[in-house]
Amino acid sequence: MTKQITHKNMVIPFLQNQINSVLKQFGSPIYIYDEAGIRSTSKEMKRAFSWTKNYKNFFAVKATPTPAILKILHEEGMGFDCSTRTELLMVEKLGIPGEDIFFTSNNTPKEDFVLAIKLGATVNIDDLSQVPVYIDALNGNSVARLAARYNPGDLKSGNIIIGEPTEAKYGMSLDDLVDAFTTLKAQNISEFGLHTMVASNELDAAYFEDTTRLLVTAVNEVEKKAGIKISFVNLGGGFGVNYRPDQKPFDINEASERIKKVFQESGKDLEICTENGRYVTGPHGYLVTTVRYVMHKYKTYVGVDASMHNLMRPGMYNAYHHITVLGKQNDESMNYDVVGSLCENNDKFAIDRKLPQLETDDILVIHDAGAHGHSMGFNYNGLLRSAEVLMTPDGKTELIRRAETVNDYFAPLIWD
Ligand SMILES: Cc1ncc(COP(=O)(O)O)c(C=O)c1O
Repeated sequence: MTKQITHKNMVIPFLQNQINSVLKQFGSPIYIYDEAGIRSTSKEMKRAFSWTKNYKNFFAVKATPTPAILKILHEEGMGFDCSTRTELLMVEKLGIPGEDIFFTSNNTPKEDFVLAIKLGATVNIDDLSQVPVYIDALNGNSVARLAARYNPGDLKSGNIIIGEPTEAKYGMSLDDLVDAFTTLKAQNISEFGLHTMVASNELDAAYFEDTTRLLVTAVNEVEKKAGIKISFVNLGGGFGVNYRPDQKPFDINEASERIKKVFQESGKDLEICTENGRYVTGPHGYLVTTVRYVMHKYKTYVGVDASMHNLMRPGMYNAYHHITVLGKQNDESMNYDVVGSLCENNDKFAIDRKLPQLETDDILVIHDAGAHGHSMGFNYNGLLRSAEVLMTPDGKTELIRRAETVNDYFAPLIWD
C-alpha cells in the first residue's frame, strides 16, 4: 500500500545527501542534529515571550549535553538548567556566567550547593530538609538569586513522564515553601523565585495557563505568609513535541498568550523563565541506523545496528518515534517490529510499525531524537554510545562527539 507522504517523511529527502555522506564518513548508527532548526526554534521561543520582562529559557542540559549544541543555544540567548554536579561543571567549562545558570537538582549533596553558589547559579531548593544544608553551603556569603520548587500535590494532572504530583519526589508543599522562605529570608539573598514543573511533553497549551495560575496563587500565599517578595518565576520545562505524524505541533504562541493573560490578570510584576529542553532540540535530532537482518519468527523483526542504549524512550516509556526509510519514504506496505541487539525484550524502536519492505543495509531515520535521546544512553551489555554530528546551516557536517570505543568501556575497570 502506498500512502500519502507524511510531513515527517518529507523532511528526509532534503537531508538524504547529508545522511549518506555522514554514514560514509562516520559510520552507523549515528545522531545528526540540524543547527538551522535548533536556531529557528530558539528564536521562535524568544519572539513568543518577548512581552515578558527579561524572558530566558534555561535549556535543560540533561536533554542534549553536548558542548557544540549548548554553545549554539547560548548564542541564541539561552541559559542552562543543570540538574547535577557534572552538568554544572560542563557549563563552567563552557564559560557560562552564573546569571545564565539555574540549578534544579534533587537529593542534593552539600558540595553541589557549594559549587553552584561559587558559579553564581540560581539554586532551586527542592525540599525543606535541604534548607539548613544550603545555608551551611552559603556560609554567610551573599547570592543574587534563590528559588524553591513547588509541588502542588493533589492535581490529578500529571502525565506519564512526570506522574501525579502527589507521587512525585520533587518539590515542596505550600506550607513547606512558607517555612523554607521564612528561614531563608534571614540570609543575604537579593531576590527570591518560585519554580514548578507539573507536566512533561505536553502538547496542550492550556496546561501552561494552569501551571501559571498555580504558580501565581502560590506566589501570593508565600509573599503573604513568609513576608518576602518573589521577583521571578520558573514555569519549568514540558513544552511538548509532536512525535506522531498525526499530532499537531505545540503552539508556543498560544501558550505564551495564555501565560500572559494570567500574569496580566494577576497584576504582578514578575520575571518569567522556563527550562525547556525537548521542545528546543527534540525535533532537530535524528538517530540514523542501518538494517542488519530481516528475521521471520512468530512476527517479522528488523534488526538494526542501534539498540535501546542509543535511544531508550521507546523501551522505557513506550514512546512513539517516527521512522523513515531512506529512499522509500512513501511506502507502508509491511508490518515490522524494529529491534536492537540488547538482551532485553523491550529493546524495540517500534512495534507493529507499517514500513516499506526492508532489506539488509536499508537506512532508517528515527525522528525527534534530539532531546533525551543520546543523553539517556547507557552501556548495559557492553554496548557503546554512538557519535553525534552537527549539520550546519550551510549543509556541512561536523563531528561533535566521537563514538565510544571498547577502551572507553574498559577504562574504569581494574584488571589486576
Ligand atoms: C526539573 C526539570 N526541568 C526541565 C526539564 C526538561 O524537560 P523537557 O525537556 O521535557 O522540556 C526536566 C525534564 O526532565 C526537569 O526534570
